[in-house]
Formats: sequence, C-alpha cells, structure tokens
Amino acid sequence: MTKTPKETALENRAHDGAKLFSPSTERNRDAIRDVFLKTMPQKGRILEIGGGTGEHAVHLARALPDAEWRTGDPDEKARASIAAWIADAGLSNLSGPHAIDVTQADWGVEDRAPFAGIVSINMIHIAPFAAAKGLFAGAGRLLAPGGKLFLYGPFSRKGAHTAPSNEAFDASLKARDPRWGVRDLERDILPLAQENGLSLDAVVEMPANNFSVVFTKD
Ligand SMILES: C[S@@+](CC[C@H](N)C(=O)[O-])C[C@H]1O[C@@H](n2cnc3c(N)ncnc32)[C@H](O)[C@@H]1O
Repeated sequence: MTKTPKETALENRAHDGAKLFSPSTERNRDAIRDVFLKTMPQKGRILEIGGGTGEHAVHLARALPDAEWRTGDPDEKARASIAAWIADAGLSNLSGPHAIDVTQADWGVEDRAPFAGIVSINMIHIAPFAAAKGLFAGAGRLLAPGGKLFLYGPFSRKGAHTAPSNEAFDASLKARDPRWGVRDLERDILPLAQENGLSLDAVVEMPANNFSVVFTKD
C-alpha cells in the first residue's frame, strides 16, 4: 500500500491499485452499521450517495444480505476504488458504481426507483450546500412512501457547535472551500426535509461528535 496526497476526504488515504483505504471508515464503519441495522430497512433497494472508497458499501451490503445495495460517486477515482472493492467483495447484493451527482436533476438510477432507502455518509459538509439540497430533492423524488434517508456526519444544533473539535473542523472546511462546512440540523437540514416531504425519524449520537440522522418519506 502507498500513501496518496490529501483528497476530498481530508485524510491521507492509502491505496492498493485502484482500491482506496479510508482511515476514518475503518474507525466508524461498525458504529454506523449498528445504527443502520436498527433504523433502516433491511430489505429492498438501497442507494448510496457519495460512496467514496466503497468500503462502507461493502461493509453494509455484507450486513444486509436481503437488501439490494447500489452505490455511486461523481468522482472518477472514487468510482475506480468502488469498482475494485465491489469486485473483491464478490457480494451478489452490491452493484455500481453509478456516476451520481446529486446536484443534477437526473441521477441516472430513476429506472430503479422507488428505493427503500437512500444513504449518504460524510458528504453534505464536504460539498457545497447545493449537494444537501439536491440530496433531499432526490430523496423526495425517489424514495418509496415510508422509505428512509440516512445521513451520517457532524452537525451543529440550533446554531451551536456540539464540540470545540467540530467548530475547528468547520473552520478548516471553510478555509479549504468557503462553500463547504458543518451543516446545522435544525436551521439548514430540517427545512430541506420539510420542503421535500420527509419527516425527522431519529437522531443518534455517534462517537467523535458525529450523528446518524434518519428521515422518513411521508
Ligand atoms: C468525504 S467523502 C466521503 C466518502 C464516504 N462516504 C466515506 O464516508 O468514507 C465525500 C464524497 O462525496 C462525494 N460528493 C461530493 N459532491 C457530491 C455530489 N454533488 N453528489 C454526490 N456525491 C458527492 C465526493 O466525491 C466524495 O467521494
């Protein structure tokens, strides 16, 4: 494995050919899987947005043998890594990668809708706010009634950071790209949910001052 320079993920990812390894995924994937199993559908079509290395897709699809997991990312290197992880995993319930950019009106997977679940891990704060808007618009369009949207990452709450480390992370994101930043659950995200016919279902505190947030399509 060789070290690569910093990428969108703001971390030093090792690689083995096209396959990227994310140190943060290694740390958080079990906690995410455990909450996912308690809050999300266990069967049916699940669509992952901003799949990154592809490691979460493999970990979650393996834990959900009755779900049909489909993943994607707009970034070509990420898609190459996802493809390599999928090929090595040999899971019959995992497919992709799709070149899905949530800011586009068409995600290219409309023919597979409706979805039982849509998942986006560590994406909306490392992208312009248009990505959060596009994600919720797509969830409103493509989730089945009663379907769930699962988000994971840091959030501020009612205008306040939940930890000094998140405040520092927010500043570092904005220094890198002023359009990026930790989103506020009540002020930024709940209005998007409401506009797109989604209701807040669960907010679960996670290690390292992150949250899993689950919405249900009305
Ligand atoms: C920080 S990485 C997280 C990757 C992975 N989910 C994880 O937690 O390891 C954010 C990912 O979101 C993707 N992304 C950024 N903008 C996006 C957009 N508009 N639509 C879909 N994905 C996007 C990036 O290409 C990147 O792979």
